[in-house]
Amino acid sequence: MVSTSVQPQSLVRAATLAELQEKGQLLVRLSQQPVALFYSNDRVYAIDNRCPHMGFPLHGSVCKDGIVTCPWHYARFDLASGGTFDSWADDVRSFPVQIQDGEIWVDVAPLSNLKVHQQQRLQDGLEQGISLVIAKSVIALLDLKVAPTAPFQVGLSFGTRYNKTGWDTGLTMLTCMMNLLPYMNESDYPRALYQGLSAVARDSAAAPPHFRVHPLPTTNLDFSTLKAWFRQFIEQRDREAAERCLVTAIELGISRTQIAEILFAAATDHRYLDVGHVLDFINKALEALDATGWQEAESVLASLVTGLANATRMEEASSWRYPVDLVAILDGAFEQLPAALEAGKSYQGQWVQPPELLSVLLGEDAQAIADSLLEALRSGCTEEQLAQTVTYAAALRVARFHTNNDHGDWNSAHHPFTFANAVQQGIRRVPTVELLRGVFDAAMSVHLNRFLNVPPARLPDAKDTVANPEALLEKLPDLLDRQQQVNETGRLVAQYLYSGGNPRALMAMLAKLMLRENRDFHVIQSMDAAFRLYSQLADPSEGVPVLVAAARYLAAHAPTMRSQEQTYQMAYRLHRGDRLFEDTESEANPG
Ligand code: FES
Repeated sequence: MVSTSVQPQSLVRAATLAELQEKGQLLVRLSQQPVALFYSNDRVYAIDNRCPHMGFPLHGSVCKDGIVTCPWHYARFDLASGGTFDSWADDVRSFPVQIQDGEIWVDVAPLSNLKVHQQQRLQDGLEQGISLVIAKSVIALLDLKVAPTAPFQVGLSFGTRYNKTGWDTGLTMLTCMMNLLPYMNESDYPRALYQGLSAVARDSAAAPPHFRVHPLPTTNLDFSTLKAWFRQFIEQRDREAAERCLVTAIELGISRTQIAEILFAAATDHRYLDVGHVLDFINKALEALDATGWQEAESVLASLVTGLANATRMEEASSWRYPVDLVAILDGAFEQLPAALEAGKSYQGQWVQPPELLSVLLGEDAQAIADSLLEALRSGCTEEQLAQTVTYAAALRVARFHTNNDHGDWNSAHHPFTFANAVQQGIRRVPTVELLRGVFDAAMSVHLNRFLNVPPARLPDAKDTVANPEALLEKLPDLLDRQQQVNETGRLVAQYLYSGGNPRALMAMLAKLMLRENRDFHVIQSMDAAFRLYSQLADPSEGVPVLVAAARYLAAHAPTMRSQEQTYQMAYRLHRGDRLFEDTESEANPG
């Protein structure tokens, strides 16, 4: 129920009692607020005329036994409190009423407990999977100056508890959105969170909860033992035992870096688990914890274990075995990793990327790829530099994806890119020799997709510039209103950047255009990875193909039905108090 506090100075005269008694209900406008007055069972009631569900007028509704029923979708409300019996509709605001000398006075004082109410509504929206309720609560919370991390934390906590299958695409999208906020216009923050939170609610719909596994009753286990046990249990696909190890490590206060080390080691003990999703989910869970100060680390990280234990290992995939045994090449390379790192230590800081390295990474020879990565390490390339080089090569695959390919192959180009990004971000956190294996896995997955660049889509020329790049940016929304605009979009983005256009403005625009579409897991992941990579590259001109890749990927998946944006717009207009539908005495209702 929405409660109000009585402040006599906020009382406004509404009507005469006699008039209301004669008509049964009246519509009045008090301090710009449309208010529906009802006379029922010898009592006067005043409620907001806008139904909280979709904003249709409540004036004209059937009122019986103290309950008013909205004629549009039949949501029912207690007239006295405004509380609804249909939670998808939300409570309607009720106003305290006083009768003095035959006159009705309504108290229109502002509400005082909105934050608590909206936080509860967000929880309701997640539990019942109602996007409109989620959108309304997020818009209201951010408008109340609540930090975006607060609704994010609610979604994180909900999604990790109420989904037995564990961390999935919804939580990943939510975390990507959180990562993308700094690149967006502030006005898009609630839209981004609404998209991510709705995805979490969808994943949890009808899913059984994840029951907590308790830590071992011990204070006497060290990091090395727990790490070895965890890897052993994942190797045996024993989810419960692995989860108990992990929560024990957290309970014992093992450092955040070491927890990440345990997870990444197990995630790279086999090749390219679940087409890279497992390691990507681990990285996202760690990023989510970073955003929230590692609150509820136990439930968040425990949600990763099922995916780790059940993942498909690419040693089992024929494409990684035939006609070239990539696993054997990788095993050989991994044996040389410690020595290569040792040899390169004294040259670190001096490494310059050889001009031919990218061509080798995008080329035909898997053994040459592994050899060149090892050689880079011996020459002083750091773990992070190596990871970034492979991520860049993966982005080039997307930037050069030829539109003659099957549309489904966009996913094949996409997976190595987001996997490589996850490995790179993981290595920035914990540069272990185990996780370094992920860089080699990413390089092989890029190699396997070389056919997607045959022939390569032509990357725009740096000499192709215009005098007014901002005019190009204005064309982008229209371009993405049409299908099959992949190459035109890539060209526009490159021309904008080569002409000196502001990359921050471009990224904000791309994020906005992504948000107006129905959410797509891969588009959101791809945007997150591309913006991250672009921001970490030292040379902005080197980053042009990266943003071209993100824009082309978005263009390949736009336009959609945009029904989710329609829901958001409805919530936004309701929140703003727009006159969504006419609210005069003469307005029609469907009854
Ligand atoms: S129930 Fe009132 S507008 Fe839908």
